[in-house]
Amino acid sequence: MEFPITRMRRLRRTDSLRRMVRETHLLPDQLIQPLFVVHGSNVKKPVTSMPGVHQLSVENVVTEAQRAADAGVPGIILFGIPDHKDADGSAAWKAQGIVQKAAARIKKAAPNLSIIADVCFCEYTDHGHCGVVEDGQVDNDATLENLAKQAVSLADAGVDVIAPSGMMDGMVGAIREGLDEADFGDIPILSYAVKYASAFYGPFREAAESSPAFGDRRQYQMDPANGREALREAALDVGEGADMLMVKPALAYLDVLRDLRDEFDLPLAAYNVSGEMAMVEAAAQNGWIDRKRIILETLLSMRRAGADIILTYWATEVAGWLKA
Ligand code: PBG
Repeated sequence: MEFPITRMRRLRRTDSLRRMVRETHLLPDQLIQPLFVVHGSNVKKPVTSMPGVHQLSVENVVTEAQRAADAGVPGIILFGIPDHKDADGSAAWKAQGIVQKAAARIKKAAPNLSIIADVCFCEYTDHGHCGVVEDGQVDNDATLENLAKQAVSLADAGVDVIAPSGMMDGMVGAIREGLDEADFGDIPILSYAVKYASAFYGPFREAAESSPAFGDRRQYQMDPANGREALREAALDVGEGADMLMVKPALAYLDVLRDLRDEFDLPLAAYNVSGEMAMVEAAAQNGWIDRKRIILETLLSMRRAGADIILTYWATEVAGWLKA
């Protein structure tokens, strides 16, 4: 049917009509709040390149977790900054490790909140790479064993979901096996299945103190030029027992998100990463954009591309807006 019989504007006339025909919805249930936890007490250290984000000591991270839960956010993801780094990143699997401590405390304070833990070594190694380094390269298979240890230690501390982000081949299988052997067969794995070697992680590395001391991560994270490879990465993780998949970053990779949505039935997450947030905050501080509308439109684009879940530094704030 053609114009003038068809007039597309008819359904855009009023707010109630627009609401009625809207396909895509953004809900607090879909948002995950990332939090950075450090040793010490009463620490609330701002991350300069991520306005509103802080490194928090345990009691402050508990408060933030509670705030997220009160806003209706179903989960948080924890990143830890250890007090001691070594070549293997052994602080990552200590019972008294920083994420272990925080998880135990959050579990008590907000029992209905799901605690996700990022499982990777870049914050814990003195060289800043995501695993054990041999001859200047990250040794994939040696790292797998350590990832399983880290995952079991976190599950022991009360973490509900394990989220490996290191892009080691076989990481999901190794972690699944480790968890099952330790009687954590019920703990799901959210795999950062499709993670690109991206400049959009810049601000995060300030927050997590995790910049590599030499080189970069291009030998294990994916090349931004490659889209097809994403489906193979995801299929491998599904085969190894991933319960949920993630694409990261989100905004510059909405095509990849859509490809995964069309190919897999698993719950799919998008990580609205630090650089995406920093660009919006910087422009907003200059008065160049409407911050709130840009944030909502950004998150909606990820939902429209197929994300069920969005990890975003704005989670608690946005959940508050959506509830109001
Ligand atoms: C690795 C990890 C990174 C991010 C999440 N997990 C950094 C990296 O791969 O260098 C980045 C998240 C962001 O930029 O917001 N532990």
